[in-house]
Amino acid sequence: MADAFSPVTIGPVTLRNRFIRSGANEMMVRDCKPTQSLVELHGAIARGGIGMTTLAYIAVSMDGRTFEHQGVLNAASVPHYRAVCDAVHAEGAKISAQITHAGSFVQHKSLSTPRAMSASAGIDQMGVMMGRFFQREMTREEMKKVTQEFVDTAERAAEAGFDAVEIHMGHGYLLNQFISPLSNKRKDEFGGSAENRVRFPAEVMAAVKQAVGSRMAVLAKMNLMDSAKGGQTVAEGIVTAKALEAAGADMLVLTAGRNIESVWQIFGSPMPYDDLAEMQSGLFAKLQFKILKANTPKSLKFSEMYLLDAARQVRAAVNTKLAYLGGVQSLKGAETALDDGFDAVVMARALVHDPELVNRFRADPEHHSGCIACNRCVAAMYGPAGTYCPLVDNPVDPRLNKIFAGEEIEHAT
Ligand SMILES: Cc1cc2nc3c(=O)[nH]c(=O)nc-3n(C[C@H](O)[C@H](O)[C@H](O)COP(=O)(O)O)c2cc1C
Repeated sequence: MADAFSPVTIGPVTLRNRFIRSGANEMMVRDCKPTQSLVELHGAIARGGIGMTTLAYIAVSMDGRTFEHQGVLNAASVPHYRAVCDAVHAEGAKISAQITHAGSFVQHKSLSTPRAMSASAGIDQMGVMMGRFFQREMTREEMKKVTQEFVDTAERAAEAGFDAVEIHMGHGYLLNQFISPLSNKRKDEFGGSAENRVRFPAEVMAAVKQAVGSRMAVLAKMNLMDSAKGGQTVAEGIVTAKALEAAGADMLVLTAGRNIESVWQIFGSPMPYDDLAEMQSGLFAKLQFKILKANTPKSLKFSEMYLLDAARQVRAAVNTKLAYLGGVQSLKGAETALDDGFDAVVMARALVHDPELVNRFRADPEHHSGCIACNRCVAAMYGPAGTYCPLVDNPVDPRLNKIFAGEEIEHAT
């Protein structure tokens, strides 16, 4: 049986074990810089035994943000990110920066252009909440500019001390807006077939890899499938994975689902739609969550390892390192994925619930996460305290409760 506690090498980086904390937006950022809460949180996750933690959802530019208060790796924020990296390294873990561009998935009003850019023009489904009704198709020049922004952000991540970058290509953000036929209607060489749709994301991968690949591991998070009518299938997911492998990805993290069409598939369980609607001020935003609720299959029930069947198909088709993600809640689940040939497992909610989880698995192989996949942590993300598990008082460090209560919003130095 595979040993989940054995080291794994990803590009130039070796992790002490096979557990990776997934990018799960902490919402502990102010003025685009990490807060002390973020330092404490990732320090606690590292102390909890993880091989590598991931700092979620760092935008490659101000226009690449989804949220007003979202991290951006620029000259001013590098020392603050370094504080998070130092806290993680002090506990013996590695740290990855998830880097992203929102495309048209923008929930704030500070865009520098009247219309958000995306793979294709059309109705701006997220922008309507902000009074932006249409999005525009990216030009080739803009694609080159965004590629450079990903490269520059990866360079700054290296400068800040990150061991890895994970390029976000899933869930409906800009690079996924190219990969998915739901949002890519282009007529040029970047649209049409699955090979064409992944061309721009693969260019980004190759450029980032060339710039930082000798110093950092370069990962991509990509959709196995969109699980929505007319969306990317697993067969097309294999095409995507092969293209990213050819572009030099050190590891692919396999996910599924889209924020608008099939958010339930990201989590494998229904969302607390009513809670989420309540957290929004605008009528359109409230309506959006009602639509998401209506789109969720009525029979949907959480099951552990809910993406394993689809992920196995990609495992059989590519040679590059793959990380299994989706409902890992026990050591047994992790070992099943490793025995199937995955090189690591990635966890989000189980670690939001309990940052000590990996140490608990080591102490007691039968230990099972107490996460019930209710997704109320996702609703909490929109509150002033940032992401936490409403089921528990934080079991690790009582100080985190204070931080989660939003009392401490002090920049790292
Ligand atoms: C509160 C919360 C925030 C999340 N934010 C992000 C994010 O910023 N980037 C991302 O790629 N996925 C995000 N996700 C999705 C997770 O990374 C992961 O794909 C999903 O939760 C399934 O993994 P799990 O079953 O281990 O929770 C988030 C999940 C949660 C619960």
